[in-house]
Amino acid sequence: MNSSVKPFLKWVGGKYTLAIELKKHLPNNFDELNYIEPMLGGAGMFFNLQPKKAILSDINKKLIITYQSIQNNVEGVISELKKHELNHKTNEDYFYDVREYFNKGCETREGLAAAFIYLNKTNFNGLYRVNNKGEFNVPKGRTTSGSVTICDEKVLKNCSDLLKGVELYWKSYEDALKDLNKHCFVYLDPPYLPQTDVSFTKYSKDGFSVEDHQILSKHCKDLSQRGIKFMMSNAENDYTYEIYGDFSIKPLTVYHSLGPDKKTRKKAKECIITNY
Ligand SMILES: C[S@@+](CC[C@H](N)C(=O)[O-])C[C@H]1O[C@@H](n2cnc3c(N)ncnc32)[C@H](O)[C@@H]1O
Repeated sequence: MNSSVKPFLKWVGGKYTLAIELKKHLPNNFDELNYIEPMLGGAGMFFNLQPKKAILSDINKKLIITYQSIQNNVEGVISELKKHELNHKTNEDYFYDVREYFNKGCETREGLAAAFIYLNKTNFNGLYRVNNKGEFNVPKGRTTSGSVTICDEKVLKNCSDLLKGVELYWKSYEDALKDLNKHCFVYLDPPYLPQTDVSFTKYSKDGFSVEDHQILSKHCKDLSQRGIKFMMSNAENDYTYEIYGDFSIKPLTVYHSLGPDKKTRKKAKECIITNY
């Protein structure tokens, strides 16, 4: 494993650090299986595991175009991102100009990728949230210019190298699970089941509800019937046992990454759900 590869995006629920714990629960024959990650987000698990063969996907189209651009033309993305870095330092309103440009679609795929990364580094807490029209609407973050690295060339180039040879698709997890066989291993990291108090579950235009978890659970049963191993990260609460009770549920204790203030971040109950 190349330990200098890490995610180039901040992502709510990112698994890069937790992957050390999650790895202990992989199936014994993991190295022989094709790695499938259909809810990719910031790809924390992928960048930590660095599997030989991988098929990665997400329902967020702009996110996938960003990965594909890093894969195919990292130099082009870096060149655009450097312009953002410079303008961010001198223009107070630059964030909102880029946000508008991003919502209009951008002229090139590299331009879109650079705008995606710039907004991710400078917005409020690295969130990705869109309104009913599908427009990205997260405000500028509290970190002032200079305190955040917008263009980390080394990280971007390392990610590009690791993404070479990987298949990347914009699709729903339902579609991503269709053509798999028993030589595949699926890691699922959906927006978590809500805790009894407030939980951040609205990642995409459509969000992800308790009913969506019931549907996801049916897809997991289908994977089991097809002899395909899966591992899922999720919150651990009453819903988990109700919805995913047919599988093995192993509790983990971790700190929640959502919330700007480190002092108020809470321990959250999480778990690993597997069918092996
Ligand atoms: C918790 S995040 C994944 C975080 C990721 N494991 C990481 O390390 O950063 C959940 C992801 O699921 C994606 N997602 C939500 N609904 C989906 C669906 N129906 N099909 C595919 N992806 C979906 C979201 O766009 C989001 O990127």
